[in-house]
Amino acid sequence: MDLKAKDLLEKLKIEHSLSTDEYEYLLANRDEELMDLAAGYAREFQKQHYGNKVYIRGLIEFTNFCRNDCIYCGIRRDNMNCERYRLSAQTIIDCANQGYELGFRTIVLQGGEDYTYSDDMLCDIISAIKSSHEDMVITLSIGERSKESYQKYYDAGARRYLLRHETANPELYRKLHPAEMSWHNRMECLKNLKEIGYQTGAGFMVESPGQTSYDLAMDLKFIEEFKPDMCGIGPFISHKDTPFANENSGTLDTTLFCLSLIRMIYPEVLLPATTALGTINPKGRELGILAGANVVMPNLSPTDVRRMYTLYDNKICTGEEAAECLGCLGSRMESIGYKIVTDPGNRAGFN
Ligand code: SAM
Ligand code: FES
Repeated sequence: MDLKAKDLLEKLKIEHSLSTDEYEYLLANRDEELMDLAAGYAREFQKQHYGNKVYIRGLIEFTNFCRNDCIYCGIRRDNMNCERYRLSAQTIIDCANQGYELGFRTIVLQGGEDYTYSDDMLCDIISAIKSSHEDMVITLSIGERSKESYQKYYDAGARRYLLRHETANPELYRKLHPAEMSWHNRMECLKNLKEIGYQTGAGFMVESPGQTSYDLAMDLKFIEEFKPDMCGIGPFISHKDTPFANENSGTLDTTLFCLSLIRMIYPEVLLPATTALGTINPKGRELGILAGANVVMPNLSPTDVRRMYTLYDNKICTGEEAAECLGCLGSRMESIGYKIVTDPGNRAGFN
C-alpha cells in the first residue's frame, strides 16, 4: 500500500476533509489493501450511525418521457428507439399503496423531465398519498424545476428530493450534456431544494466518458462542502442507443472506493447501493453495503413498464414483481449480516 495514500486515509478518517489534490492522490493510488482499509473505516462510521440497518426506498419510475437530451441516458429525448410510457395519477397512487402494504415507508417518484405532469397534478398525487398514509415519506426525483414549484411540492407534503449534480466540473458537464443544459442551473436547483428544507440528494456517475480522476476528486470535494443528506452514485453504464454506446462502463472497484470515501467524508450521509452497481456485478449491491452504503431501492413500478425505463443496458430487476424484488434484496442483505428495516430512515441527525 502506498504510504502517503494510507496517511491521507487516516487524515480523512479524523478530519472528514481533504484537498481536491489529496482526493485525487487517493483515487490514483488505490490498491486492494487501501480499498480494504477504506471500506473498514467506512463500515465503522456506518455501524456507528445506522448499526446493521439498511433502509429501503420503493422506486416508482412513473414516466420515461424526457425533455432533456443527456448524452449518456437511454431515455434521452432524441432516442427514437425508446418506447415511451406515462403512468396515470391513479396508477402512481396504487403503486404507493402497494408499497405501503409491503412495508415501505419511503417512496421515490422518479421520472424523466416530463412537464405533462403539471405542478397541480404532482401536488394532487403527493397529497393523495399523504392523506392515506401520513407516515409515508415522499421523495421526488423529477429533475430541474423552479424554486416555486419545489416549494409547492414541499407544501403538498414531499420531504426529500434526489437531484444528482452529475459532475462538479462544469467543463465535463458540457461534454456530457447538450449546450442548452446548464450546470449552473442544476447547482442552483440543489441550493434551492436545501433552502426549502428538503432532505436533498446529490450524486454523480463514476467513470463517465471523459471523466478524469481529478474530476472525481472534485465530486468528492463537492460532497464534502455541500453535504447533501443523500448521495447517489453508480457506475456509468453505456446504452446502445446513445452516442456513448461504445464507451467503456465504469468499474466496480472505483465505485466501491468512492462509496467508502463518501462515508468517511460525511459519516451520517444516506448512501444507496444503486441498481447500476448491481447491474455491473451480480453482487454489486452487497459489496456496496460492505463498502459503506446503507440504502437500497427496490423497484415498485408496474412490471409491464419496467423494461422501458432503461437508462443503460442490461438493467437488473426489470422482470420481478415488487414483492419479489423486496424479498430478493432482503435475503441479499441478510447474507452479509445486514437487515432491511421499514422505518422512514431519515439522515442521522436530521431534524
Ligand atoms: N430526470 C431526473 C433527473 O434528471 O434527476 C431523474 C431521472 S435521471 C434518468 C436519474 C439518474 O440516472 C441521472 O441523474 C443519472 O446520473 C443516471 N443515469 C442516466 N443514464 C445513466 C447511465 N447511462 N449510466 C448510469 N447512470 C445513468
Ligand atoms: Fe430486484 Fe433482486 S433486487 S429482483
